[in-house]
Amino acid sequence: MVQLTLPKNSQVKKGKTWPKPEGAEETREVRIYRYDPDSGENPRWDTYHVDVRKGGPMVLDALIYIKNEIDSTLAFRRSCREGICGSCSMNIGGRNTIACTSGLDEYSGAITISPLPHQPVVKDLIPDLTNFYAQLSSVQPYLQTKSPTPEKEWLQSEADREELDGLYECILCACCSTACPSYWWNSDKFLGPAALLQAYRWIADSRDEATGERLDDLEDPFKLYRCHTIMNCANVCPKGLNPAKAIGRIKELMVERQT
Ligand code: SF4
Ligand code: SF4
Ligand code: FES
Repeated sequence: MVQLTLPKNSQVKKGKTWPKPEGAEETREVRIYRYDPDSGENPRWDTYHVDVRKGGPMVLDALIYIKNEIDSTLAFRRSCREGICGSCSMNIGGRNTIACTSGLDEYSGAITISPLPHQPVVKDLIPDLTNFYAQLSSVQPYLQTKSPTPEKEWLQSEADREELDGLYECILCACCSTACPSYWWNSDKFLGPAALLQAYRWIADSRDEATGERLDDLEDPFKLYRCHTIMNCANVCPKGLNPAKAIGRIKELMVERQT
């Protein structure tokens, strides 16, 4: 597993240690990054003990247990609880992933949980993903056509549909982009692996008729070419996708159209 060091971790103060829950036969220690814009105690690590019978088996279950049973002030995002919505992404044990499909038993010792790295923090485990979504929007992630609209639907052969495997499954959790060193340093200009995977998802779609315009838009020293194939993106993707491969394919298409 790739371990990502959180920047400025040494500046995070030790916070409150909550007592072990009474009557719990087995507990897990969980250290959580806390940041509250209305508090002077920022940022800090608070320590909790989770009764694994009530707060498991997944890390998201432990967070829900902490919020319901110990500390209602803890803030985090979640929705589907089954790896589909992408909203519970965070850094767990030094690695970006989604909490709802991460088992407590995948981690040994105390589990550290912090927000996705290198993003502004709104509160606790909630990053501000405004820039991430703006970049996604900039690649126009939807079908664009010029031909007359068919009577029923835009058809696609089975083989062309298979070209989208490994692309359409992205849940936009941002684990990849916020694990990418190039994105850390240039997130204002480099689109990052998630947005570029989406760009290629539409470039690769046989029904889309804006391929030239899409490539024109990415022909830029920063938007695309800041990817240096470090591969953190593919290593952390909780859906097993490979944004680096999609980025490489876009670069190949850039070359092919010039020859
Ligand atoms: S392969 Fe490219 S996009 Fe992926 S982590 Fe490395 S630099 Fe970032
Ligand atoms: S490519 Fe993977 S890590 Fe990146 S946003 Fe999509 S699902 Fe998340
Ligand atoms: S809650 Fe939806 S992906 Fe985790």
